[in-house]
Amino acid sequence: MKRIVAILALSIAPLFAAGLHEAVACMGCHDIHYAVGDKAFAVHNEVMRNPRTQEELTGTTAAMCLGCHEISEYGGAGIRPIHLHTTHPMGMEPNPRIADVPQNLLKDGRLDCVSCHDPHTSNPNWMYLRVDTGTDGNDIQMFCVACHSAKGDLTVIGIESADEIEIFSSMDQEAGAGFFPRSEVVITNETPSYITPLGALPENSIVPNYMNPPSWVYAPEINALELFDDAPAAAE
Ligand code: HEC
Ligand code: HEC
Ligand code: HEC
Ligand code: HEC
Repeated sequence: MKRIVAILALSIAPLFAAGLHEAVACMGCHDIHYAVGDKAFAVHNEVMRNPRTQEELTGTTAAMCLGCHEISEYGGAGIRPIHLHTTHPMGMEPNPRIADVPQNLLKDGRLDCVSCHDPHTSNPNWMYLRVDTGTDGNDIQMFCVACHSAKGDLTVIGIESADEIEIFSSMDQEAGAGFFPRSEVVITNETPSYITPLGALPENSIVPNYMNPPSWVYAPEINALELFDDAPAAAE
């Protein structure tokens, strides 16, 4: 049995080598025409509330990520659900005594999923983390001390200060995807004001590609071309 699993793992390994969001592709998270959030986000979780503030997650990237990564009861699609209660306080301004998070690692001054993850498939790191923690996350301490340096033995980790930690970002198209100094990395850009999301969709409003359009989308039953059946024959 173990051998079968090992062979299976080996044979599927190359498929996943590039990262699991390859399967989601661009259109799982962004939708050029039916977007429901800024950044042309295709997914929006309207059910889940911030457990600390009871506020909606609207305006956070978490509203997008949790449209997939939350259990359905909380408005997610149940894909590797993480539960916001047990994670870091998304949508909150960090208490500087608990964590030292530079402004450029926050989104609108608040901790968000993208403070720790860059979900784009150009990110080579384990779990799409912003810090390289080795193949299985063995060097996770390097990641934690990026915001909690007072808690780690930096000499063992092999750095003198958190500023030496390189942070991955795909969010500066001019610089390209890569690693940047913690103090300079760009993790988000302002969405231009002319981009107006179409707004709320029912339930968790996942709009995967064009395969499952929401009910309000103009989608006539009949082929519009048939309307022209009785049209006067074109002059010969
Ligand atoms: C797993 C979800 C996910 C997938 C898959 C994904 N993106 Fe993104 N994308 C995001 C998030 C999250 C942000 C923005 C983060 C922020 O600004 O807070 C973003 C931002 C962007 C932006 C930048 C907008 C800006 O303001 O700078 C572009 C462009 C973009 N994505 C294109 C793509 C393309 C092209 C693909 C496919 C190759 C892709 N994305 C796949 C989640 C995703
Ligand atoms: C459209 C659905 C969708 C959205 C939105 C989405 N993901 Fe994912 N994500 C997936 C799928 C599918 C997988 C692979 C699940 C599996 O195979 O177990 C995945 C896997 C992951 C993993 C595990 C990667 C690994 O190598 O094990 C992380 C971390 C992750 N997503 C983070 C995020 C973050 C952060 C966001 C928001 C910026 C996000 N995802 C948005 C669908 C999504
Ligand atoms: C403070 C940093 C931090 C923040 C903020 C954060 N994550 Fe993570 N995330 C991690 C780490 C570290 C891991 C890998 C260890 C683990 O699975 O717990 C992880 C793992 C994951 C996984 C994979 C879980 C699995 O079962 O394999 C998903 C999916 C994910 N995060 C999504 C999210 C989403 C969605 C958000 C925002 C709501 C988020 N993360 C916010 C640090 C963070
Ligand atoms: C991007 C910055 C960032 C990273 C990376 C990060 N954290 Fe945090 N951490 C925070 C913030 C922000 C808080 C909450 C501060 C607050 O409550 O205002 C926090 C809080 C905590 C807390 C206290 C929770 C409580 O109940 O008060 C623990 C424990 C913790 N982090 C552990 C970790 C561990 C372990 C890792 C690595 C796996 C990690 N953090 C990575 C930013 C980060």
